Amino acid sequence: MQVGIDKIGFFTPNKYVDMVDLANARNEDPNKYLIGIGQRKMSVADQTQDAVSMGINATLRYWNKIEQDKVGLLVFGTESSVDQSKSASLFVKTALKMKPEVRTFEVKEACFGLTAALMIARDFVRVHPEQTAIVIGSDIARYGIKTPGEVTQGAGAISMLIKSEPKILALNDGHSAYSQDINDFWRPNDHSTALVEGKYSTQVYLDFFKKTFDAYKEEKGWNTQDFSAIIYHLPFTKQGLKANRIAIEDQDERTAERLMTNFDASKQFSMQVGNIYTASLYMSLLSLLENAELSHNALIGLFSYGSGAMAEFYSGNVIDNYQRQLDPEGDQALLDRRSKLSIAEYEKIFNEALELPADGQELVSDDEAGYWYFARTQNHVRIYKQK
Ligand code: CAA
Repeated sequence: MQVGIDKIGFFTPNKYVDMVDLANARNEDPNKYLIGIGQRKMSVADQTQDAVSMGINATLRYWNKIEQDKVGLLVFGTESSVDQSKSASLFVKTALKMKPEVRTFEVKEACFGLTAALMIARDFVRVHPEQTAIVIGSDIARYGIKTPGEVTQGAGAISMLIKSEPKILALNDGHSAYSQDINDFWRPNDHSTALVEGKYSTQVYLDFFKKTFDAYKEEKGWNTQDFSAIIYHLPFTKQGLKANRIAIEDQDERTAERLMTNFDASKQFSMQVGNIYTASLYMSLLSLLENAELSHNALIGLFSYGSGAMAEFYSGNVIDNYQRQLDPEGDQALLDRRSKLSIAEYEKIFNEALELPADGQELVSDDEAGYWYFARTQNHVRIYKQK
C-alpha cells in the first residue's frame, strides 16, 4: 500500500518587503541580498496573522475538496507557537469544525517540525489505512531589525493531507536521520526573536546534508543519478544552492544539469516569501511540482533540517497526473495580492507584532474576505475570526 501526500495547501500573509529596499536601508549592496543570499522578497505578518491563523488558511485551500470525516489525526509543527501548553492544532480543529474524535497535538524541533509531523502521519495511515491525517507547518521567521538574519525572515504555512493511495507523492520506506545537541539557532522562552550563530549554522546544515544524503544512498543502494530532483529546507535559497552543489559534485553533465534545473524550480516560492521554518521544505516541494517538468514516477529526494539540530533525508515518487491536485493560479494570486511595505512601515509592523494587544482590544484584518485572522484575546484566551 502506498502512503503519501494527497493535497498541499499554501498560505502567506498579505504584505512583503522588497530586498532591494531592505538592502538600501541597511547600506548593503542589493546584490548581496539578491545573489549572495538569493532572496527577492519576504512576507511580513502583522499582528492579525500568527502560526494558527496561517495554518487554518493553508488548510482551507483544500478542506472542502476532501472527505472531512475521514481525518483521524491532525498534527501541527511550529516554532512560533502561541501558547506554552495548548496545541495550535486545537484552534485549527475548531475553525474547521473537525470531529471531536480526531487525535491532535503540536510538535517541535525547529524547522524539522513538519517532517516529524509527516512521519507520524505516515505511520498513522499505515496502521489506519481507511483514515487520513492532516499535517501543518506554520511559522514566522523573526531575527530582528538590523540583524544579519533580517534578510532571511518570512512568514507562511503549508498544510498537507496524508492518505493511502495518495495523488501527489508516494513516500518511500526508509530514511536517514542525524541529530546532535548543538547551539546554532534557538529561541529561549524570554525572547521573541531567534538567537543564531549564523555562519556556524550554515556549516552544520551542509555537514548534516552530506551525512544524511550519503547514508540514505548507501541504505537504499541508490546513486545520485537515480534522483530526478533533490529539494531542501530553504532558510534562504543560497543555502540550498550550496547543498545542491555538493550533491552534484562529480556527477555526469546530464545529472548535474537536471538536478540544478529542478533545484531552480524548487526555490521560486522561497525567493518570494522567505524562510517559513517548518514549512520551508514543503514550500520547495510545491514550487518544484508547479515549476518543473517531472517525468513519470520521478524520484524526489527531500532534505529536512531543524537547528538544534536534527536532519533527515528521505524520498518519494511523484504520482501520474499530480498536476490535477495543484492550484498554481491560486498560489500565484496569493503572492500577487501582497502589498509592498516601505521599510518604515515594515519596522513599525514588526515591532507591533512582537506585542500582544490589550486584553479585549479588537484587531482589524486588512486581508481579503474569507481568510482567518487573530482578532483579540478575551480573558487571555486567543480568539480567531474569519473575515
Ligand atoms: N554580490 C554578490 N554576493 C555578495 C555580495 C555582493 N555584493 N556581497 C556579499 N555577497 C555574498 C557573500 O560572498 C556570501 O556568499 P557565500 O555564502 O557564497 O560566501 C553571501 O553574500 C552572504 O554574505 P555574508 O556571509 O557576508 O553574510 P552575513 O554575514 O550577512 O550573514 C547569514 C549571512 C549567516 C546567512 C545570516 O543571514 C544569518 O545569520 N541568517 C540566519 C541563519 C540561517 O538562516 N542559517 C541557515 C542554516 S540554519 C537553518 O537552516 C535553520 C533555519 O531555518 C534557521
